[in-house]
Amino acid sequence: MERTYAMIKPDGVRRGLTAEILSRFIRKGYRIVGLKQMIIPLELAQNHYGEHKERPFFGELVTFITSGPVVAIALEGNGTIAGLRQMMGATNPANAEMGTFRGDFASSIGENVIHGSANADDAARELGLFFSAAELLE
Ligand code: RTP
Ligand code: MG
Repeated sequence: MERTYAMIKPDGVRRGLTAEILSRFIRKGYRIVGLKQMIIPLELAQNHYGEHKERPFFGELVTFITSGPVVAIALEGNGTIAGLRQMMGATNPANAEMGTFRGDFASSIGENVIHGSANADDAARELGLFFSAAELLE
């Protein structure tokens, strides 16, 4: 069993995709062990995307991710880290396969509907940033 962090970005929430995305996780057989809607505080956003802080798009990325409510999700299951990334599709929706969240629901690299941890270290770090132990099911 593996845990990872998924997040429906503000564009996904605004466009009414929350139920569809949660439904696909459940149908896939993943267990939702943490779930909350929130507006990300600026410092948390900067920390979450810290690996990109020197990139030219960092300011826009932080402005966007704090622009409205997100849905923070802790997912548990077999191979959820790689599985979530497969379900998301490529970062640039122009390159994302149909059938993925980004392939089906997004058309711009800046507003690409969903975040997922890239690897096991990021999954542990991001779950810790967004959820306290008491907010996660055993
Ligand atoms: P995420 O972290 O949001 O799940 O996305 P990702 O792993 O697929 O992509 P990552 O490289 O971590 O980039 C984080 C977010 O930054 C924006 N981005 N813009 N303009 C650009 O070249 C560019 N590159 C990345 C995207 O919104 C991406 O999701
Ligand atoms: Mg990333």
